[in-house]
Amino acid sequence: MEESELNFYQTIGDWDFSQIKYSTEKITNWNFYKIIEENTNEKSICLDLGTGGGENILKNYPEVGMIIATDFSDEMIKTAKENLKRYPTKNVKFIKMDNLNMKVPNDLFNLVSARHTVIDAKQIYDCLTENGIVVIEGVDKKDCWDLKRIFKRGQAYNDEFSISEQDYKGLEKAGFKQIKRVEILENEYYETEADLMALLQKTPIINDFSKIHSNNSIELDLFNEYVKKYKSEKGILLKRVLYGIVAKK
Ligand SMILES: C[S@@+](CC[C@H](N)C(=O)[O-])C[C@H]1O[C@@H](n2cnc3c(N)ncnc32)[C@H](O)[C@@H]1O
Repeated sequence: MEESELNFYQTIGDWDFSQIKYSTEKITNWNFYKIIEENTNEKSICLDLGTGGGENILKNYPEVGMIIATDFSDEMIKTAKENLKRYPTKNVKFIKMDNLNMKVPNDLFNLVSARHTVIDAKQIYDCLTENGIVVIEGVDKKDCWDLKRIFKRGQAYNDEFSISEQDYKGLEKAGFKQIKRVEILENEYYETEADLMALLQKTPIINDFSKIHSNNSIELDLFNEYVKKYKSEKGILLKRVLYGIVAKK
C-alpha cells in the first residue's frame, strides 16, 4: 500500500487544487490552522508531517519560530521548495522524511501538525517537548459517503473502524493526554461536472492509490447518477466529513 501511495504522490507532485472551481460552506467551525495558532507563539518549533507541495502551510501556517515540513515524496519536496520562493519571509525548511520512520531528535518540537496524511502516534510523542501538542486533521470513512455508496468503493469504504477512531486509539496508546476529537462537516459545491471529475481524478476518494496510478477509471454512468442527484444552483454538492484531533504530551 505504501509503495503505491508513494508512486501516486510522486506522479501528482503537488497538492494544488486552485484550478478546480468550487466553494465551501462550513457547517462546523473547527479550523486546523487556527488551532495551531492558538497553541504556538513566535518562538515555537513546529513539525508539519506529509506537507505535500507546501501549498497549505505556506499560505495558512501562523508565524512561529521555525517550521520543519516533511514529505516522503521527492516530487512534493521539490514543488514545496519551488513554492517557497513566493514566500521569502516564511521560516520553513522542507525535508524528505517518511512519517512512519521519522528521523528527528526526541523532545524537540513544541507542536506537530499532520493534515490529511498517515501518522505514527508514538514517534510523534517522542519528538514533542513536555506538554507539546499534536494537531491532526483527517478524512474520515463517511467522507463523500453518498458518492462512495453509488460507486460501492472509495477511501476507507470497507474499514471496520473509522480512521479518526484508529488515530484516537493510537494517541491514547502512545501516552497522550487530553485527547479531543471533533467531527468537521463541510459542504463543497463544484461549479461544473468537469470540476468534480478533476477532483476525483486527483484524489483517492473513489479509486485507491494503486488504481489511480495504473488506470484511474471513473464510470461515467455512476458519475452522472451522482451529479443528477446532487446538482443545484449552488453547484454539485459533495458532503465532506473530516475529523480533527488535538492532544497533549
Ligand atoms: C493529501 S496530501 C496532504 C498535503 C498537506 N498536508 C495538505 O494538507 O495540503 C498527503 C501528503 O502526505 C504525504 N504522505 C503520505 N504518506 C506519507 C508517509 N508515510 N510519509 C510522509 N509523507 C507521506 C503524501 O506524499 C502527500 O504529499
